[in-house]
Amino acid sequence: MGYARKVGWVTAGLVIGAGACYCIYRLARGRKQNKEKMAEGGPGDVDDVGDCPGARARARARATRARRAVQKRASPNSDDTILSPQELQKVLCLVEMSEKPYILEAALIALGNNAAYAFNRDIIRDLGGLPIVAKILNTRDPIVKEKALIVLNNLSVNAENQRRLKIYMNQVCDDTITSRLNSSVQLAGLRLLTNMTVTNEYQHMLANSISDLFRLFSAGNEETKFQVLKLLLNLAENPAMTRELLRAQVPSSLGSLFNKKENKEIILKLLVVFENINDNFKWEENEPTQSQFIQGSLFFFLKQFQVCADKILGIESHHDFLVKVKVGKFMAKLAENMFPNSQE
Ligand SMILES: *[C@@H]1O[C@H](CO)[C@@H](O)[C@H](O)[C@H]1NC(C)=O
Ligand SMILES: *[C@@H]1O[C@H](CO)[C@@H](O)[C@H](O)[C@H]1NC(C)=O
Ligand SMILES: *[C@@H]1O[C@H](CO)[C@@H](O)[C@H](O)[C@H]1NC(C)=O
Repeated sequence: MGYARKVGWVTAGLVIGAGACYCIYRLARGRKQNKEKMAEGGPGDVDDVGDCPGARARARARATRARRAVQKRASPNSDDTILSPQELQKVLCLVEMSEKPYILEAALIALGNNAAYAFNRDIIRDLGGLPIVAKILNTRDPIVKEKALIVLNNLSVNAENQRRLKIYMNQVCDDTITSRLNSSVQLAGLRLLTNMTVTNEYQHMLANSISDLFRLFSAGNEETKFQVLKLLLNLAENPAMTRELLRAQVPSSLGSLFNKKENKEIILKLLVVFENINDNFKWEENEPTQSQFIQGSLFFFLKQFQVCADKILGIESHHDFLVKVKVGKFMAKLAENMFPNSQE
C-alpha cells in the first residue's frame, strides 16, 4: 500500500469510527491514572495537559480558528489531511492501542502530516500526544520507529514541545548511535536531534555523545555525514559546548577525509564547524588547562591539522581552489591561536 492510500485508509477508519469509543475510554482512563500518579508525587514531567477539562475546549477553539485560516487558502485536497482535534484524538488512540505495525505506521504518517502544521503541534500536545508517540520509540521495528521519529521531529518545531521532549533525548541519541549505519531510522534520529539543538538549551545533553557522532561522521555515507555535520554545527555555534567538542575523541580516519576525493561541501562544512570552535575557545584563558585534553581528542586533531592542510595545499592536490583558500585561512588562524609564541 502506498503512503497516500494508507493515510486515506486511516482517515476512513476514523470516519467510520470503529472501536474509537473504547480507545477514548482507554485514553481517559490513562489520564486519570496519570493524575493519580502525580497526586502521589510521581513524575510531574509526564504530559499532563489532557487532564484539565479546559484543555480539550482550548484545543478545539484553537483548531477551529486554525482550520478557518487554512480553509481560506486551502487547496481542494487539503481537507483530506487536516484532521480535527476529535479525529487527531482517534489517531492517537490507534497509536496507543494498535499492535499491528501497518496500522501504527499509517496512524503515525497521518499524525506526522498533521504535525507539519504549526497549530496542530499545540493541539497534539494538548491531547497528550507527545508521550504516546514517544512510547513507540521502544519498538524494535525500525520502520515504525522511523515513523515515530519523523512525527516527533515535526512536533519538535515548537518551544513548548521541545521542553517536554527533552526527556527522550538520551534515548533517541543512544538509539541513533546504535542503529544500523546509514539506515533511515538513524537519519531520522539525527534529524530529530538536529531540530532539538537549534537552540542552545538542550545541547548539553549530547555532551557525552560527541565522540560517537564523529564516529558516525567518519564511517557514514554522504547523507549521514551531512546530517551529522548539521548537528555538530548547532553544537559548535554554542560557546558553552566548545570544551565538550574539543574533549571528544575523534577517529584517526578523520584526517584521511582530507586526502580522499571527499565531497567538497562536506570538507567546507567541517571547516565551518572547526572555525566556530576555534573562534569560541578562549585560548589564552584556557592555556593552563590545555594539558587536560588527551591524545585522540579533537583538540589534538586540530593541533596536528597542519598535516591535513599540507595535503590539501600540496601542489598535486586534487582539491579545488575554494577549498584550498579556506583551509589556508583556517590553518593560519588556528596556528595563531594554538602556537602564539612560535609566530615571528
Ligand atoms: C513533516 O513536516 C513536513 C513539513 O514541515 C512535511 O513536509 C512532512 O510531510 C511531514 N512529515 C510527515 C511524516 O508527515
Ligand atoms: C526540523 O527538521 C526538518 C526536517 O529535518 C527541517 O525541514 C526543519 O527545517 C527543521 N526545523 C528547524 C526549526 O530547524
Ligand atoms: C555506510 O556508508 C559507508 C560509506 O558509503 C559505507 O562504507 C558503509 O559500509 C555503510 N554502512 C552500512 C552498514 O551500510
